[in-house]
Amino acid sequence: MYAAARRLLSTRACAAAAARASPVASRAPSCYSAAQSKPPPPRFPTPKEIRRGLDQYVVGQDKAKKVLCVAVHNHYKRIYSEPSTKSSSQTSAADDDTELEKSNILLLGPTGSGKTLLAKTLARFANVPFVIADATAITQAGYSGEDVESIVYKLLVAADFDVEAAERGIIYIDEVDKLAQKLGCQEDRRDVSGEGVQQALLKMFEGTVFSVPRKRSQNGMSHGCVEVDTTNILFICGGAFSDLGKIVSERLHRCPFGFGTPIRHELGDYALTNALGQSGLLEEIENDDLIAYGLTPEFIGRLPIIVGLTHLTEDQLVQVLREPKNAIGKQYKKLFKMNDVKLHITENALRLIAKKAAVRETGARGLRSIMEGILTEAMFEVVCTLFSACHGTVGNQD
Ligand SMILES: Nc1ncnc2c1ncn2[C@@H]1O[C@H](COP(=O)(O)OP(=O)(O)OP(=O)(O)O)[C@@H](O)[C@H]1O
Ligand SMILES: [Mg+2]
Repeated sequence: MYAAARRLLSTRACAAAAARASPVASRAPSCYSAAQSKPPPPRFPTPKEIRRGLDQYVVGQDKAKKVLCVAVHNHYKRIYSEPSTKSSSQTSAADDDTELEKSNILLLGPTGSGKTLLAKTLARFANVPFVIADATAITQAGYSGEDVESIVYKLLVAADFDVEAAERGIIYIDEVDKLAQKLGCQEDRRDVSGEGVQQALLKMFEGTVFSVPRKRSQNGMSHGCVEVDTTNILFICGGAFSDLGKIVSERLHRCPFGFGTPIRHELGDYALTNALGQSGLLEEIENDDLIAYGLTPEFIGRLPIIVGLTHLTEDQLVQVLREPKNAIGKQYKKLFKMNDVKLHITENALRLIAKKAAVRETGARGLRSIMEGILTEAMFEVVCTLFSACHGTVGNQD
């Protein structure tokens, strides 16, 4: 296992990492000089550093952020861990024999709450290659559609065909809830094809070697295959699990103080008293609820970290418009600025847009279409006045 860690310290991997350096990861030691006898141990960002990075892009979701930062930090600590950095007096033989298992992650939360954004931003600050795959597009081997091997291939492409970098990347699989069919209605309507895909994903989660095509040469020829081991790839699955609240609520109703270990993290009084709210219920989820939803026990077993995201409040939707690095409001301002037009969005307008989005129940997803609807006319007109300076305002000045 440590051979893999040493491989990760190779100059090539180091150079590739430095080239993609992120604000946090760039603080890690860069490539060691050839004159040095031993490479310095790699320093992976601490949970707090990752958290600071996430806060720049993702609004709210405090509990989810905390769990994810710790999980991602531990994952990479596990990959990069070097026993030689501890003195023998500190490390017992028993500690040395302890193998750290991988913990893949399942993100549950309503649409537009930031699941994909969190996964993408985590990869950015972990400074590792990242791909998003859609569970609904994956098919069992032998059927037409995207198979699991092609996801690994995409990761290799994202890593610019650096196999070592790809082997420590992150794969986000969206819409895993669509692999399940709700059970317990009139009859068993378990979706067999969904189960087949869950089976196909299991092997990849667990760690297996896939043979994928090498980079094509300039004349478009592919030169054989290359092997990619998925053992150290971190898998994050996401899904809205829209009706899961009903299953959890029924169970809580049947057995409010039931046995079974809650898998959510540090449930406070909030979730117990807020049991009717979908967000509160998401934090009450147990493995059995996900099985009742239609995921197989084996599939859930490979996703030991389960994180619930909450609906964004109206205030948080205003923040999404205004504050993050790529805030939607900032994006439109930039678009207008490209035409020498200053776009000013009033506080009142921000609030009204957030209110409208909250009613749609599509989370922050609704914000963009609302903005687009408001500004289409202005953007159309702006092209006509391309070379004249003008000022646009959304909303009243009060
Ligand atoms: N918490 C958040 N902070 C900042 N922006 C957000 C947040 N949540 C969502 N957004 C914005 O909304 C867009 C959609 O978010 P995202 O794709 O992460 O949602 P999702 O939870 O994955 O939804 P779905 O279940 O539909 O896939 C993002 O591009 C981002 O601009
Ligand atoms: Mg998503």
